[in-house]
Formats: sequence, structure tokens, C-alpha cells
Amino acid sequence: MKLMVINGPNLNLLGNRETDIYGDASYETLCESLEAYAHTKGIDLEIFQSNSEGRIIDFIQSAKPGYDGIIINPAAFTHYSIAILDAIAAIGLPAVEIHLSNIHGREEFRRKSVIAPACAGQIAGLGLFGYFAAVDYFLYKAMKAEQSF
Ligand code: DQA
Repeated sequence: MKLMVINGPNLNLLGNRETDIYGDASYETLCESLEAYAHTKGIDLEIFQSNSEGRIIDFIQSAKPGYDGIIINPAAFTHYSIAILDAIAAIGLPAVEIHLSNIHGREEFRRKSVIAPACAGQIAGLGLFGYFAAVDYFLYKAMKAEQSF
């Protein structure tokens, strides 16, 4: 199985950025620990971060063939990027939306995700664990398809 992991603007600053909200772990820690976890499950990850909406869209469009799903934290683009919503819908791969913080308990403008309609589901507020849970979701989905339960 091969999954794309996409992180939007300012997530490269994890570990330095508003640590009371986003935690102490650095972006490198996120990438390395997630890769190690996926590796133990036999899953290949292609991890990408950009501060640019266009580069994220280009990366999503490069998904086929060979990818089984997308794990995406669109960061601030969550709240207004119809272009990222359209790219995910266009590519037709299952996607899971991640937020480190609980966006539903924060400012009003963060409570709305315009990306959510194109995603199978959203995990918010569980910190880095959300990414690991998303990997597990794809494992579960594959197992379910194989065993037809
Ligand atoms: C975020 C939440 C967004 O509102 C914010 O703009 C981010 C990070 C999160 O992971 O909690 O940059 O997506």
C-alpha cells in the first residue's frame, strides 16, 4: 500500500510554533515517527509539505497511479481552499483530513472545513496521533475489502 501524506502551510514549523496548541514535537519527528510506523505495517509513505496552495494541488494531481489514499492536514487552507477540495475530489482517492488541534473548539473561522466534503472523515484534536490513526484507517479499509466483512 502507498499513501500520500500532505501537510499545508506552517506545519514545517511544528515544535517551534504555538507549542501550547500544536505540541512540542518537531516536523522531523512527525515525519520520521510516521514513516517508521508505516514501515512496520508494510506501507509506503510519500510525505510532502508546502506553504503554497498551487504546489499542494500539483502534488495531489500527481497521485495516480499507484497511490491508495491521501492523508492531508491542509492547515489554514482547510478553511478556504476550494481549489484543494476540487483537487481531492478530482483525483478520486480516499482521503482523511487531519488536524493536530481540535478546530471545533477554537475560533469560529477554524470550525469550518471546506475540504471535509471530499474526505472520508476528519480526525481533529489528537495531536500527532491523528496521522497514525489515519494510517490505521487505510489498513482497516484494505483488510475489510480483502475479507469482505
Ligand atoms: C491546523 C488547524 C488550522 O486551523 C491551522 O491553520 C493550522 C493547523 C491543525 O493541525 O490543527 O495551521 O490544521
